[in-house]
Amino acid sequence: MTRPEPQYPTIEQTIGHTPLVRLQRIPGELGTPRGNVILGKLEGNNPAGSVKDRPAMSMISRAEARGDIKPGDTLIEATSGNTGIALAMAAAIKGYRMILIMPDDLSVERRAAMTAYGAELILTPAAGDGVSKGMEFARDLAERMQREGKGRVLDQFANPDNPLAHIEGTGPEIWQQTGGRITHFVSAMGTTGTITGVSTYLKQQNPAVQIVGAQPEDGSRIPGIRKWPEAYLPKIYEPARVDRLEYVSQTEAEAMARRMAASEGIFCGISAAGALCVALRVAAEVRDATIVFIVCDRGDRYLSTGVFNA
Ligand SMILES: Cc1ncc(COP(=O)(O)O)c(C=O)c1O
Repeated sequence: MTRPEPQYPTIEQTIGHTPLVRLQRIPGELGTPRGNVILGKLEGNNPAGSVKDRPAMSMISRAEARGDIKPGDTLIEATSGNTGIALAMAAAIKGYRMILIMPDDLSVERRAAMTAYGAELILTPAAGDGVSKGMEFARDLAERMQREGKGRVLDQFANPDNPLAHIEGTGPEIWQQTGGRITHFVSAMGTTGTITGVSTYLKQQNPAVQIVGAQPEDGSRIPGIRKWPEAYLPKIYEPARVDRLEYVSQTEAEAMARRMAASEGIFCGISAAGALCVALRVAAEVRDATIVFIVCDRGDRYLSTGVFNA
């Protein structure tokens, strides 16, 4: 008897196809009694640990398919967060040299994850008065290196291949996993690639699906997301694709991250917990709704901040 040859995926093929799980305890009265179901899309299950694996692979693969870059080339990105780790993995898979530029106050475990994948780091001075100035310096340096011919900047904030990863991946997965029942989609907003891309796809399927963005309140810092001043809005952001913006405090998001781990068994990052805070506000206003929020990454990435010890 001949057995069929097993089909083994490559690591690249394990990006995406993440689980969509129903919260069992936190929704309480806002859940089943009102006919609502609240679902988390577990993007921390991606191989490099966050939702950013999708745009990282998309930006490299599509640039390569267009003939803009070829294996062996040098890629550059200014990023201090999940994108750096995801790009380091994607570059390793596809055979590129990856230079990541970031302020020098970045946590040791993040740096270590990037270098483990073989990326080279350039550390720039952290701004005394907030990460934003430090990041702007890092972005300027990336642009200068590109002008000097030292490599190609991918620029997740302006690169259409970032939202495209969600138009072709995350959005269709959510539509299919909910059997087209989704009524509300909630996402934290950083580059806005996730919310813009998922909204594009979902509204093509059903224009009534409500798209809700979560941003930090003034004065609150939640890693990976920002309340963008008008002048600094990411180029890929399309305001018409977001029906509503909600603001979350750092304290509220951090407390929810601890609850997610301890009462749902979902160990997630702070921005994901912020999105859940917003999902619950939505649930308090509606009945018979299917509310999906993005769990951007895993809690391990925040252990050194002490947020889970509080
Ligand atoms: C922890 C975290 N949450 C949320 C986001 C937001 O995702 P997007 O950039 O697609 O808006 C990011 C993006 O970097 C992130 O790192």
